[in-house]
Amino acid sequence: MSKKVDFDDFTGNYNELLRESTQFFSSSEEYFAKYKIGLVRGQINKPVKRILEYGCGIGRNIRYLQEAFPGSEIVGTDISEASLSIAASENPGVLFEKECADTDVGVFDLIFVAGVFHHIPPSDRVAASKLLEKRLTNDGVLYVFEHNPYNPVTRKIVNNCPYDADAVLLKPSELLGLFERAEMVASGQGYCLFIPPKFSWLAPLEKYLEWLPLGGQYWVKATRKSI
Ligand SMILES: C[S@@+](CC[C@H](N)C(=O)[O-])C[C@H]1O[C@@H](n2cnc3c(N)ncnc32)[C@H](O)[C@@H]1O
Repeated sequence: MSKKVDFDDFTGNYNELLRESTQFFSSSEEYFAKYKIGLVRGQINKPVKRILEYGCGIGRNIRYLQEAFPGSEIVGTDISEASLSIAASENPGVLFEKECADTDVGVFDLIFVAGVFHHIPPSDRVAASKLLEKRLTNDGVLYVFEHNPYNPVTRKIVNNCPYDADAVLLKPSELLGLFERAEMVASGQGYCLFIPPKFSWLAPLEKYLEWLPLGGQYWVKATRKSI
């Protein structure tokens, strides 16, 4: 496996790199953020007091989480200090914390994780899953979005993206196995992001395609086993 990517080295041109590497699929990084949070929002029908974005990077999702869950307290964490300082400067009033061995941010009703697990070395993924399980309230829910390794366009984008140099993509079954080992129960999953943003008027059709392993990404949701 290649050396772990340090996102501190990419913060300045992160959105630009994303735009370049996904130009086949999208010209707008906002589209992906809004799409994922819209999907989560549409599935949650109970009050959400606290939300964690684990691996929040430069905070691209935070604004949309705030819009979708007004009144919720939002916390972002990441291992990249440079990313967190950009996130903090662009999202005043939101707490951002560096992930390290003794990070204590409490428990959350919703944990949102997008595009992070493929950057975590496979040997560390069970520990990361256990950490997330510990941070869920008893009826909290975890959503993880990941690149779909079955989609050849996704694989091409990942192969050409400098900050994906350390990426080891996971199949949904691998993510489900991690959750199982972390005492969580998967309560839903689906493939998503089939339709490029320029055809976004067709996006409502995506819910009928969730079973088809050709989406650009997929999502899995899980809760604690002890409920
Ligand atoms: C591709 S970026 C995604 C950022 C953000 N979630 C988004 O959707 O824009 C991946 C992020 O995961 C972070 N990351 C990698 N390993 C991590 C870990 N073990 N714990 C927390 N964050 C991690 C990286 O520093 C980077 O900011």
